Amino acid sequence: MAKRALITGITGQDGSYLAEHLLAEGYEVIGVMRRSSTVNIERISHIQDRLTLLSGDLMDEVSLINVLRDCRPHEVYNLAAQSFVQASWSQPVLTGETTALGVTRMLDAIRIIDPEIRFYQASSSEMFGRVQAVPQDENTPFYPRSPYGVAKVYGHWITVNYRESYGLHASSGILFNHESPRRGLEFVTRKVTNGVARIKNGLDTELRLGNLEAHRDWGYAADYVRAMWAMLQRDTPDDFVIATGETHSVRELCEVAFAAAGLNYEEFVVVDPVFFRPAEVDLLVGDSSKAHRLLGWKCDVDFYGLVEMMVAADLQALQR
Ligand code: NAP
Ligand code: GDD
Repeated sequence: MAKRALITGITGQDGSYLAEHLLAEGYEVIGVMRRSSTVNIERISHIQDRLTLLSGDLMDEVSLINVLRDCRPHEVYNLAAQSFVQASWSQPVLTGETTALGVTRMLDAIRIIDPEIRFYQASSSEMFGRVQAVPQDENTPFYPRSPYGVAKVYGHWITVNYRESYGLHASSGILFNHESPRRGLEFVTRKVTNGVARIKNGLDTELRLGNLEAHRDWGYAADYVRAMWAMLQRDTPDDFVIATGETHSVRELCEVAFAAAGLNYEEFVVVDPVFFRPAEVDLLVGDSSKAHRLLGWKCDVDFYGLVEMMVAADLQALQR
């Protein structure tokens, strides 16, 4: 009998790649979607026929209980969140409700319906914030710098707490930034690669950005979802940092992305204070040696391969 996996946030970047991975592993895949007035399945339309899509919302515990009761999954991947850091300052309470308390709602729904369900929580390197050590690993203390980061720290610790309190098979993946051609347009990598494509095609003449000196450890989303799945295949639940181990600045991102289209970023990038944050995370770089050792995980795509892939995809999309 095929294993059943339920994914919250299936319409998002990671949800789409994870669904593909689980289908390839022979799973029956159920996706939870919140209701919206328009159809929002662009990222999963190519596999839609192979998925079961159910309605549910992290703000509404009964909807989660009903979904679990109806489909009785073996594994739950909680990817849903208000995931845009910048928006978390304008909507701090909504961010806390979804990104923090939403995790407790799902964990309680699991306890009520079937405590044997294995659970994955999408934790984040944003929890390290003003970093207390370089590189960051599973033992680095958290110092979140945004309402989003604070909410993710709550989600992380409630996952650990339910594991320790109730013996749930609950694991937390502390994933560093991961990107792809399916990344939302407001995140800096996609904003840059889409901007490059628009400038190359004469649709824009400049690209307005915020802090060019922030450093991130950027990997490829399709590589990272393999780690999520691997965590739930272990006998023992645990927490893992998933990262490339390399860090690059937003300025380098611009340099590489514009160069991939034969352009010089200095002629087009305009620094605009509108995109600066009230508090910044200046430097992220992860140490995922524990994941290498215990999960056998490594990434296949590096920063340069990732940026070139994203520029090529955005150029192609505009040509279409
Ligand atoms: P994303 O593209 O923004 O997707 C977020 C998903 O959450 C969407 O499917 C969204 O649905 C759904 N969602 C939001 N609020 C919801 C609610 N109240 N109830 C049910 N679903 C809701 O994010 P992502 O990049 O795939 O990231 C996946 C998860 O990993 C998130 O929890 C994120 O915080 C975390 N994370 C991401 C990264 C990264 O670099 N990508 C790194 C570390 C951790 P709609 O389509 O309806 O908006
Ligand atoms: N979005 C954006 N837009 N960011 C900009 C811009 C801009 O115009 N200009 C500079 N940046 C800088 C931000 O200040 C930040 O330092 C960096 O680019 C990355 O910003 P984002 O791409 O928005 O990602 P993030 O690091 O804040 O958050 C992402 O990664 C987290 C993991 O560390 C999200 O995916 C989170 O959900 C995830 O948890």
